[in-house]
Amino acid sequence: MSNDTLFAEALTHFPGGVSSPVRAFRAVGGTPKFFRKASGAWFEDEDGQRFLDLCMSWGPLILGHAQPDILAAVNEAMHEGLTFGAPSRRELALARKIKAMVPFIEKMRFVSSGTEAVMSALRAARGFTGRDRILKFDGCYHGHSDGLLVKAGSGLVTFGAPTSAGVPKGIAELTSVVSLDDLETLERTFAELGSELAAAIIEPIPANNGLLLQRPEFLQRLRELCTKHGVILIFDEVISGFRVAPGGAAERLGITPDLATYGKIIGGGMPVGLYGGRKDIMGVVAPDGPVYQAGTLSGNPVAMAAGLATMERLTPAFYAGLEANAAKWAAAFETLPGLHCPRYGSLLWPLFQDGVRRSDAVKGEAISSFNRLHRALLGQDVYLPPSGYEVAFLSGAHGDAELDHFKQAVAAVAKAFA
Ligand SMILES: Cc1ncc(COP(=O)(O)O)c(C=O)c1O
Repeated sequence: MSNDTLFAEALTHFPGGVSSPVRAFRAVGGTPKFFRKASGAWFEDEDGQRFLDLCMSWGPLILGHAQPDILAAVNEAMHEGLTFGAPSRRELALARKIKAMVPFIEKMRFVSSGTEAVMSALRAARGFTGRDRILKFDGCYHGHSDGLLVKAGSGLVTFGAPTSAGVPKGIAELTSVVSLDDLETLERTFAELGSELAAAIIEPIPANNGLLLQRPEFLQRLRELCTKHGVILIFDEVISGFRVAPGGAAERLGITPDLATYGKIIGGGMPVGLYGGRKDIMGVVAPDGPVYQAGTLSGNPVAMAAGLATMERLTPAFYAGLEANAAKWAAAFETLPGLHCPRYGSLLWPLFQDGVRRSDAVKGEAISSFNRLHRALLGQDVYLPPSGYEVAFLSGAHGDAELDHFKQAVAAVAKAFA
């Protein structure tokens, strides 16, 4: 069946025809591709077109699609049982690996998604501090739990307002929102509300409204303010964790949070999330403490196997190679007239604008040019994330042949952007 036939049916089953909104291609125009198989850096849609993938399922596939070692580990685990609903040795193996890569994780809990990890970490922080209010940053995304679908309300130090229908105002108001890169408002917020805040949560490498790389002093000051006011600092490393370095953004920035949240790579393409950090804070989580949090499929053995097989291949040499390679891809993007490609590790943000550090600084024309680029590159068998606010992800499977294909694709469309 063709993409179009499948999409027509999908519209009768799912809102927008999809299981997650950005997949609907509404941002870039056109209709979504339905994929039937993938390998390495490539995937093939139901019309039989092969695409060089620069979205890579939004981050988990740091080793590429259908990586043989991961498939073998999944196969072995699967034949021993899909789920036990009870402890199993693979949780320990993955936990050991995570602790070896991220030294500040003293205790952790596996969950099934990044959203769940963040929601649970915030509950632990609230349980530990006995405070209700949280702080987030405009331009960061932390999944779709009620208290995080929130933007700044009006007023100097603001109480949040919902960004989604269905989020109760009373819940949104417990979230204060500060712009990234706005040190002055950050200081004022802590001065006024510091003693009420349970937690401050940030993507240390914000990668969900483009790649909004922060000045190190902004993150350093946030760490200091949290310590001063007894606020739990949560690094949301669902994207950056195990992608930008063995110890994620915390290691690269030299800043240690109190708790961190992970997802994507630790599941190797299977649904996994994790929250963890200081053992005194994690000590409030049930059954050790009074903060309830649970999950039927948490620590699922097949997902643990996929995660471990992935993590075992993430050596310092792997990161060094990926980093060097990613610089070449960013340079290839920048051969397009007017395009700038901020990069951090293997995260790339192709944008027709320069020097953006806050989400409200992105210009409408930059996004409409991206939309045109998205369509043009699809015609050259290159699949970018279907939104100008999303970053592109590279993997260990993006080799020289892929880079050559990409350069040719860029050269073929460049004239339209001159
Ligand atoms: C930084 C960050 N936190 C949380 C999430 C939510 O993760 P999930 O989609 O697995 O629920 C995402 C998803 O992209 C993310 O990028």
